[in-house]
Amino acid sequence: MLRNGFTLKKGIVLSTLLGLVLAGGLGNGLSAQETVAERETRMRWWTDARFGMFIHWGLYALPARHEWVKSQEHITDADYQKYFDYFNPDLFNPQEWARAAKNAGMKYFVVTTKHHEGFCLFDSKFTDYKATKTPYGKDLIKPLLEAMRAEGLRVGFYYSLLDWHHPEYTLDENHPMFGNQEFAENAKNRDQKKYIEYLHNQVRELLTEYGTIDCLFMDFSFPGSNGKDRKDWDSEKLIKMIRELQPDIIVDDRLDLLDVPGGWDYRTPEQFMPPEWVTIDGKRVPWETCQTFSGSWGYYRDEATWKSVRQLVVMLIETVSKGGNLLLNVGPTARGTFDARATERLNGMGEWMKTGSRSITGCTQAPEAFKTPANCLLTYDPDGKRLYVHVLEWPMGVLALDGFAGKVAYAQLLYDASEVEFSESMEMGYLPGKSEGRASNTLILRLPVRQPDVAVPVIELFLK
Ligand code: GLC
Repeated sequence: MLRNGFTLKKGIVLSTLLGLVLAGGLGNGLSAQETVAERETRMRWWTDARFGMFIHWGLYALPARHEWVKSQEHITDADYQKYFDYFNPDLFNPQEWARAAKNAGMKYFVVTTKHHEGFCLFDSKFTDYKATKTPYGKDLIKPLLEAMRAEGLRVGFYYSLLDWHHPEYTLDENHPMFGNQEFAENAKNRDQKKYIEYLHNQVRELLTEYGTIDCLFMDFSFPGSNGKDRKDWDSEKLIKMIRELQPDIIVDDRLDLLDVPGGWDYRTPEQFMPPEWVTIDGKRVPWETCQTFSGSWGYYRDEATWKSVRQLVVMLIETVSKGGNLLLNVGPTARGTFDARATERLNGMGEWMKTGSRSITGCTQAPEAFKTPANCLLTYDPDGKRLYVHVLEWPMGVLALDGFAGKVAYAQLLYDASEVEFSESMEMGYLPGKSEGRASNTLILRLPVRQPDVAVPVIELFLK
């Protein structure tokens, strides 16, 4: 079962990589009605935001061993039913979640309205397999949207194209009952068209009943003989409806419409850091990497491979240094809480963001002219004309920035706005005896010996 999960994740990473490579010649996702500049304007809040919260919540929080548990362990509907019957997140407090996201420095969130298991967190009129019919008895989506909006966050829906509960959803390689002869026999008359109708109805419902939805994460297509692709979702019709209902919405790239104008807005490398700004046909495109704290999206009680706060902060900086967004996932428990490990990470990131957010929000990759110094990551604020040097290994006394001389008007540490003195010549004696070897365009920053007490120290350079 674990092997299954591993293969699966590997498959997704591989297909993401492949997608990134094969995407050449597939267009840039722009519709006939929209120019690059217009898309940039539509997506401006999102590319400025840089940091969002993903929330994976559903019945799988009860088994607490991966959101794919139903598929990985080949659990029947009858055996999975207990999680529905006992679903009662009595401690769910959306204001707390919203505050946690805001304090971490996140500017938007994306919540699973339905994951692959088919369970709906919203009060859909097209099914009874939803939160309002569980012992909890209440809609989870509306209060969450209200709380998030009240904290000033933009809102996004995740919706699973896969559905392991719907009676008309046809068998495929990811289905929990794939390989079960008896099930296959009973399922042979399933009509995917009826499922498509259900899926389109629910997406329409989500995009009409909940006010403005800022982004939409449709998940996912897996073309192949036992897979599902655009035909199985009627993706082209679906994207048209989505754009009609919410013209400003920002949509991911998993509807299998990479080659269709207007078929997507951004690429989604998953649990994987692209080596550079994601491009198509050599042109940079908007991208967002979604990442977990510990490998699982749903709450996983016994998973121990949690990333440290510092790793997560570096992940955020690295993402922005390549012009991307980070959507960082929380898998709440079945009581409706963020567990202590998640809270500790979010608090830690928030602590760093309190002073560090200026190098993240509204920032992007540094202009070509600035080469990244060793052990550093650069980001750039084009409006404020400021360059941010994130120092991953604190050096002894000086930091030499080749090619930066003549370009910097003032420098300070970001965490306390204390001046960083610098010089553009060797005579200052900061590099005794080394002057001959240095290019004359080197900027020498004089740093305190003691590293500032933050997860990753940042130097803010005000450019001329
Ligand atoms: C994958 C997984 C899923 C997760 C998603 C997040 O497609 O199937 O469990 O929700 O990635 O991007």
